[in-house]
Amino acid sequence: MKNFRSAIIGCGAIFPTHGVSVKHCERATLVAVCDIIKERAEKTAEKYACAAYTDYIEMLDKEKIDVVHICLPHYLHAPVAIECMKRGKHVITEKPLSVSVSDAQAMIDASEKHGVTLACIFQNRFNAGTQFVRNMFLSGELGAIKGARCSVTWYRPDSYYVADDWHGTWDKEGGGVIINQAIHTLDAMRYIMNAKPIEVYATIANRGDTHIEVEDTAEGAILFDNGVRANFHAINYYSFDDEVEINLDFEKGRAKILSDRATVKMSDGRILSSVTEPLSDIDYGEIKAYWGVNHFRQIDNVYKCLESGEEMFVDLKGAFETLKIVCAIYESGKSGAKVKI
Ligand SMILES: NC(=O)c1ccc[n+]([C@@H]2O[C@H](COP(=O)([O-])OP(=O)(O)OC[C@H]3O[C@@H](n4cnc5c(N)ncnc54)[C@H](O)[C@@H]3O)[C@@H](O)[C@H]2O)c1
Repeated sequence: MKNFRSAIIGCGAIFPTHGVSVKHCERATLVAVCDIIKERAEKTAEKYACAAYTDYIEMLDKEKIDVVHICLPHYLHAPVAIECMKRGKHVITEKPLSVSVSDAQAMIDASEKHGVTLACIFQNRFNAGTQFVRNMFLSGELGAIKGARCSVTWYRPDSYYVADDWHGTWDKEGGGVIINQAIHTLDAMRYIMNAKPIEVYATIANRGDTHIEVEDTAEGAILFDNGVRANFHAINYYSFDDEVEINLDFEKGRAKILSDRATVKMSDGRILSSVTEPLSDIDYGEIKAYWGVNHFRQIDNVYKCLESGEEMFVDLKGAFETLKIVCAIYESGKSGAKVKI
């Protein structure tokens, strides 16, 4: 079995899901971490018994690294990933792939040019509810899809946005509730439908009490190439982080996904439910419950595929399609026009 030498850039909130996953992954060893905040890098390195850096270029120069995990603010995903790929490193970046379609395309071009793998984290694709409905649909059991809608009603106070210099900004975060929070739910809806988005007609607004420039509200329609016009609604000014919801109407049944669980009411009266298999040995420490537990499943799968050459479970093409939806929502929301993808 191969053992890949890994590094993680960005030791902030999402770091533990990558650090713990690498630790549990039999094909990977964490050799270095990097954060521009020195104490953060050093504290993390001490905990994980690896080297600490504040400059990722220096880390790439000094350490022998095969795989780089990018856990950075959104605007840095593209430049850092491209720099790593130029040096022959495989890259696993956190969502979103980048803040623009052109940046994402440049990342994909770089991975092809340099013959390395680029993976993007969408851990919730592993959720039992998502898999349950998608597999039933793909097997033909549910018949054709007729309608879809999803909603994310979460809460992000000012303290969340002022904790750093990137959340709540167009240039660094690339948007608000859509690109950061609802992106998972949009990705899951698109993935279950197994269809290509072709047009978006959306509104974005800032309706809460926070002092941010990006949207805390968005709603609209996404037209897919199967003829379904899916609806989405997302806000960051609810009173708590409610369960995200995806509803899908099929010829032979209706599916409701709440967080990671699904219930399907079949037209013949049967009610079917997903079963979640917990990852009992993985403890990410202090992370948000709504991030789920599936980072390990995705990261472990990426390393397995690096060794075997198989297709990754979370495909890059799908991550790009989801980013195209996100960028089209912003373009439509800003212009007021329908946007073709
Ligand atoms: N998959 C999920 O469910 C999930 C959940 C939360 C966050 N995320 C994603 O993870 C990424 C990071 O988010 P976060 O919440 O951990 O952010 P964060 O602000 O907590 O952490 C980012 C870290 O990057 C460091 N950093 C910034 N610029 C740097 C540079 N040039 N070199 C090295 N380090 C640098 C910062 O000092 C900080 O420690 C984002 O893409 C976010 O969307 C994903």
